[in-house]
Amino acid sequence: MASPAQADGSVNIYSYRQPYLIQPLLNRFTEETGIETNIVYASKGLGERIKAEGVNSPVDVMLTVDIGRLEGAKTLGFAAPLDNATINANIPENFRDPENRWFGLTGRARVVYASKERVTQNTITYAELADPKWKGRICTRSGQHDYTIGLIASIIAHEGTDKAKAWLSAVKENLARKPTGNDRAQVQAIYSGECDIALGNTYYMGKMLTNDKEPEQETWAKSVKILFPDAEGRGSHVNISGMVLAEHAPNRDNAVRLMEFLTSDEAQGLYAEINFEYPLNPHVAPSELVSSWGKLHPDSLPLIEIAKHRREASELVDEVAFDDGPSS
Ligand SMILES: [Fe+2]
Repeated sequence: MASPAQADGSVNIYSYRQPYLIQPLLNRFTEETGIETNIVYASKGLGERIKAEGVNSPVDVMLTVDIGRLEGAKTLGFAAPLDNATINANIPENFRDPENRWFGLTGRARVVYASKERVTQNTITYAELADPKWKGRICTRSGQHDYTIGLIASIIAHEGTDKAKAWLSAVKENLARKPTGNDRAQVQAIYSGECDIALGNTYYMGKMLTNDKEPEQETWAKSVKILFPDAEGRGSHVNISGMVLAEHAPNRDNAVRLMEFLTSDEAQGLYAEINFEYPLNPHVAPSELVSSWGKLHPDSLPLIEIAKHRREASELVDEVAFDDGPSS
């Protein structure tokens, strides 16, 4: 490892991930390497922007959530291959692109939030969400949201289109209301009694339970427990956040240093503590709060196999009119 603050120059980052999470990571990176960071934050359009900038793009590294956006970087053609021993050692293979054009950094499990009061069971499967016993009891955000698309794509990957379609139709009929709001809104709906279970990402529970600015979120979250679907079978669906090296990176060496750093024990620990995500580096433990919910058994099917079915998943959502809510 190079001694601190001896490298020079900078690295340019485009980030879909937010400043409260990324800035502490970049501060540590600069302290350790002397490499300055320049960053553009946005919630959409970064891939298209990089594509439009072409060979003149200043970007070195893109940070994003969701396998759809990571694969999208490949489709748009700006994701450069990188065969790097440090990154390969730190991040398990099923969370890396087989062509080395994107790399996972953190895991985001799509789990079931369940009312502590009204749901006695402590295990569940995704298949079970189709059981009529949940009629009028399930809440979720839109079927077309990336998080839902990822989950449906994983069900297609495991069970095929026909079974996935039947499942999705049955889950739709079990909904308490039209899909609406974000994951936190589903927790609120369980708290208020509108539904008994919901689909959501694990880290929101961490963020709600520690929310000083909006303490009512803590109240909602305390009414809810987390069930890890298929924990005893194929494992729970885990989407990722990740990073891409830009094809025309003007500061390639510094970009690689940053990418290595983000997979390191230190950076992975920051992701775990600041944002309650699962570190993908197996040497780093989840935060204490996240660990207290139980052990995550991630679906071992490579994410790339799941991503192949994203478009089909989106079509199924329309076909069954999932976002219209239950028909009766
Ligand atoms: Fe999120």
